[in-house]
Amino acid sequence: MALRISTRRSSAICNCVASVSSRGPRFTRRNASAMAVPTSSQSEKAGNDFNREASLSNPDPPTDSPTAAMVGEHTKYMVATYVRPPPMMVKGEGCYLWDIENRRYLDFTAGIAVNALGHCDPEMAKLMGQQARTLIHTSNLYHNPWTGALSQLLISKTRESGSMHEASKVFICNSGSEANEAAIKFARKVGKILQPSGEQHEIVSFNNSFHGRTMGSLSATPNPKYQKPFGPMIPGFKYGIYNDESSLKDLITEKTCGVIVEPIQGEGGVNVATSSFLQALRNRCNEVGAVLIYDEIQCGLSRTGQLWAHQNLPASAHPDILTTAKALGNGFPIGATMVTEEVAKCVVTGDHGTTFGGNPLACRLAHYIISRLSEPGLQRGVLEKEKIFRAGFERLQKRFPDAVSEVRGRGLILGLQLTQDPTPIVTAARERGLLVITCGTNTLRFVPPLVISGEEIEEGLGILEQAMDVVLNSQEHVPGTRGQQEMAPRGR
Ligand SMILES: Cc1ncc(COP(=O)(O)O)c(C=O)c1O
Repeated sequence: MALRISTRRSSAICNCVASVSSRGPRFTRRNASAMAVPTSSQSEKAGNDFNREASLSNPDPPTDSPTAAMVGEHTKYMVATYVRPPPMMVKGEGCYLWDIENRRYLDFTAGIAVNALGHCDPEMAKLMGQQARTLIHTSNLYHNPWTGALSQLLISKTRESGSMHEASKVFICNSGSEANEAAIKFARKVGKILQPSGEQHEIVSFNNSFHGRTMGSLSATPNPKYQKPFGPMIPGFKYGIYNDESSLKDLITEKTCGVIVEPIQGEGGVNVATSSFLQALRNRCNEVGAVLIYDEIQCGLSRTGQLWAHQNLPASAHPDILTTAKALGNGFPIGATMVTEEVAKCVVTGDHGTTFGGNPLACRLAHYIISRLSEPGLQRGVLEKEKIFRAGFERLQKRFPDAVSEVRGRGLILGLQLTQDPTPIVTAARERGLLVITCGTNTLRFVPPLVISGEEIEEGLGILEQAMDVVLNSQEHVPGTRGQQEMAPRGR
């Protein structure tokens, strides 16, 4: 049955969009419902809902809201790959988002570790306009100034930072999955050159990793929830246990052409690789002639307070390939695969390519973003902000000792391990104006913009504490937020 938005509702939405401003008067559902006091003919449930909503700054839009009407209209035309919570976001500024009914949310998710410079960075918006008026796309049929300038900057900033000291060349693409896809193909090509028989073709990855959804990157992501519906996976992929050095000898053999690992697993639960594990991986790769790939798509680009998360490792543990995406475009799609000269030598014209990858618009933006994210002041700030988060988590752990079991991560990729399903806390936080996401098994994940202020962190931690209090200490039933948990088993 077609669900149509009435003229009255659609104009309400337009008015809301038009009135969105960081300071201006706010239309809230609470105000709207205050005008619509339940009558005696309405159910007790409606009365309870009314009381609950009246106590919330950002109650989720109900099923009869303008938002729900628009979502219902659009859903018919969208492949159902995502489950989203009820609000519809229409504007972002700094660390805040606004929904279409003008509720404001503090964003601790940054579009899943993407908006490191915050939403709608003004300089980025300016450059985007300038470049869009100059040149957007020519494909890789022709040279443009920005693909090369970005590649050069990525290499020089990486080397200056003390990470991947042999970084030499870059392949630019459009997403994290594509960056890993290129890395996997490059590793296979190296294997083919070392062993023309094709024997050296295996790719090793680790449990709880997430490397993407394309067939190659999915084959390296050993999560049955993602792999099973699309099996069989690409042949030649093997999986090991993260941080288990003892199994590496059997896992990585003369048949292995590449090993891919996240120095900090994001989706898998904010699990940090030990330095000795990464060094052992490097040593074993050297023994068998395999390429070591660090996937820094989520944990890289100053999220740990260092340009790359592996920066604190000795040069002897640096990778042959590093993949990046997410924050590289601060929301504009782009990914990159950085390689050593040894790897670059094996990749020749025609081996790999992309239509959009390296377009001048994305590359000019990423050039600016890398310059900002590599600033030492910004990186020092990340470590200061980590301390504020950790102090807040300690308070939460003291207040809810049975619910909070561990804090993991580095810089501004942090995980609060809970002993129970965190999804009701995600809902309760959102309805109080804070966006957080989950990962792994019962982990709350914190990947805010790196430009977040101390006050904003305190504001968010205060909301989180209220949300935890409601869920853990009161009788109120808060529904879980479906669709937030990347790693949860199917049907949760
Ligand atoms: C570590 C890691 N690798 C790869 C990917 C895939 O990136 P994309 O979603 O841009 O394809 C992600 C996405 O979350 C990621 O966290």
